[in-house]
Amino acid sequence: MRNLNQDNITQAVIASFSATEDPRIKQIMTSLVQHLHAFAREVKLTEAEWFQGIDFLTRCGHITSDKRQEFILLSDVLGLSMLTVAMNNDKPAGCTESTVFGPFHVAGAPHYELGADIANGAKGTPCLVRGRVSGLDGEPVPGAVLDVWQSDDDGLYDVQHEGLEQAQARGVVTADAQGRYHFRSILAVPYSIPHDGPVGQLLEATGRHPWRPAHLHFMVTAPGYETLITHVFRDRSDYLDSDAVFGVRQSLVCDWVQQPDGSYLLEYDFVLNPAAAQREAA
Ligand code: BEZ
Ligand code: FE
Repeated sequence: MRNLNQDNITQAVIASFSATEDPRIKQIMTSLVQHLHAFAREVKLTEAEWFQGIDFLTRCGHITSDKRQEFILLSDVLGLSMLTVAMNNDKPAGCTESTVFGPFHVAGAPHYELGADIANGAKGTPCLVRGRVSGLDGEPVPGAVLDVWQSDDDGLYDVQHEGLEQAQARGVVTADAQGRYHFRSILAVPYSIPHDGPVGQLLEATGRHPWRPAHLHFMVTAPGYETLITHVFRDRSDYLDSDAVFGVRQSLVCDWVQQPDGSYLLEYDFVLNPAAAQREAA
């Protein structure tokens, strides 16, 4: 009979995966156990701390609903979401960089004509947004679809307003034959990620704030190109250097220019990465 102790348990757990059929699952589980055990050894995890960790994850589960995903939030504040995005979106120079998706995208947002006001009543300073979608060689991407979403002046997305049925400050527009797009919305402002749950307690316990710098979300899709999920950040916004979810990329920061009438203008061009099949054929 085997006699397990703190020195040989890691190898025993890893050996228990030996019959795993899927090699990727085997690799991931082996590495996970190695790192998890190394972590417990390094910090000399006490039983009380282990239980605190279990309790934390349990509370993350309890607060999670179809409107709130505390585990993604946890991944975001630990930088795991952004690390995964960065590792999987290593594009050629010149392509628009990707950043975190976030929890506030809604599939099936209303489609608008170019030039429409997607704010649809959301509170905020008017802002015109325009630009061009192109490929790496500067070729226009006609008909590129831009799915856009943002928070309002109170720092809340429409889905966070109890009882609000219609989409506000979100919508889908289609670029014209030259890949150009324009729509009206509102000025983005910094806002705090949901922090009334266990992730908020974690931020507080570690002396961190829950704020994100002002940004507008984009998901840009077009046949023959990789889908781009990104934000455009507002230059000189607070929190650019301390984004709670580590999503800022310098190339995504842009001047939102105040106009004589007090409204704003954001001009931003997107450069899409050709899909893998297109790249190989080139
Ligand atoms: C967002 O930008 O919408 C977001 C991203 C990560 C966590 C919370 C919100
Ligand atoms: Fe956001």
